[in-house]
Amino acid sequence: MKILLIGSGAREHAIARALDRSLHEKEIYCLASNMNPGIAELCHELTVGNINDSEFVVNHANEVGASLAIVGPENPLATGVADTLWDAGIKVVGPKKNLAQIETSKTFTRNLLEEYNIPGGPKYKTFNSMSGVLEFLNVLGENYVVKYDGLAGGKGVRVSGEHIHSHNEALAYCQELVDKDGEFVIEEKFIGQEFSLMSFCDGETLKHMPAVQDHKRAYEGDTGPNTGGMGTYSNADHSLPFLTHEDIAEAQAINMATAKALKNKFGEGYKGVLYGGFMATADGVKLIEYNARFGDPEAMNVLPLLDADFIEICNSIADGTLNNVDVQFQNKATVCKYAVPEGYPDKPVKGKPIDVSNVVNTDDLFYASVDIQNGHLVEAGSRTVAVVGIANTISEAEKIAENEISSVEGPLFHRTDIGSMQLVNKRVEHMDSLR
Ligand code: AMP
Ligand code: GLY
Repeated sequence: MKILLIGSGAREHAIARALDRSLHEKEIYCLASNMNPGIAELCHELTVGNINDSEFVVNHANEVGASLAIVGPENPLATGVADTLWDAGIKVVGPKKNLAQIETSKTFTRNLLEEYNIPGGPKYKTFNSMSGVLEFLNVLGENYVVKYDGLAGGKGVRVSGEHIHSHNEALAYCQELVDKDGEFVIEEKFIGQEFSLMSFCDGETLKHMPAVQDHKRAYEGDTGPNTGGMGTYSNADHSLPFLTHEDIAEAQAINMATAKALKNKFGEGYKGVLYGGFMATADGVKLIEYNARFGDPEAMNVLPLLDADFIEICNSIADGTLNNVDVQFQNKATVCKYAVPEGYPDKPVKGKPIDVSNVVNTDDLFYASVDIQNGHLVEAGSRTVAVVGIANTISEAEKIAENEISSVEGPLFHRTDIGSMQLVNKRVEHMDSLR
């Protein structure tokens, strides 16, 4: 079968590898935003074009004769690429535009949880003017978060005590959003440890993946600006060292209840990866946000461990037969680390050559924001390449990832602390102190 993969970051490289490992007869095509040499090597053809333009995507899918499309990033989901592909008779892994609101609209998600009595939601209110803002800040006191209501690449969120230090600063940010004609949500701030729990979903049945912890801050010790995610780890037991069995069960239950609510609301099911961003707190598991796709870097932690045929999973998501598929993951720990351009995320170096030739295990090297210029691999300005260490313990996996990522040459940096015993223990102690 011919499969169209949409997107060209490290997440899509991990998806391409999972497709490549499948025993199904296949020809993989990629519609990319940039020339990713890792994906190109696994594909019959990689075409660079506007992946957010539904008409262009569907024409391309028809040209190559694809019968299945897998959407990697959120932007094509937001513009309705999945709807247009289904209309053209092409099966899609990735929700239709209405259902993708679970990621694209923070108000939609908060309202859905409230309407269907799904646990894990904060106190919240939505605004499009300054009316009532100060009153609600006074209700929440010192612990609040202001979120722009739309896709902002993680940059629309301001957390009290981190990005905002007084109600006056909060009011100024809200005013900025009102001036931009933006809607926004103000909600209670949760205190605890974050984790990602992704589930394959065919509209009815969910199959859960191992839990993963991401690191959003650019610099060591969780300092500096927010990024798309500098690195992640997962544990051999598919939980995380700071989580209880109940935490995992609660997060899985919230994903299941959300998928059911979406089906009830729209009359058709959510087909794709439902990615809950959760916070473990003293008071149980809370939902921070939903994403309508695989996490990046989380996909690099879980897909290499998949002990099932990925094309079979994709077909069953589209066909609604996931119930019949035995989805298993190896009991291994993983650590993923990204190398990013110097100056990332605010003023990244661009167009400079990098050298990955010292990486030992190239099967666990994933290309992201790179390009080929005059025959040289160059950094294209965002997260550049990722490596994954896979071992029996987080600590061993960290050593592998650290060695590999440090061997990548160029004007790049990475976080040495991700997955280290010291940082993982700090997370455990933090949760112990809260519980
Ligand atoms: P989001 O774009 O909703 O994922 O938010 C980005 C980051 O802001 C999250 O990864 C959290 O670190 C933080 N955040 C968002 N909402 C909350 C909340 N209600 N409580 C605490 N932190 C939050
Ligand atoms: N790991 C964060 C994200 O994929 O949005």
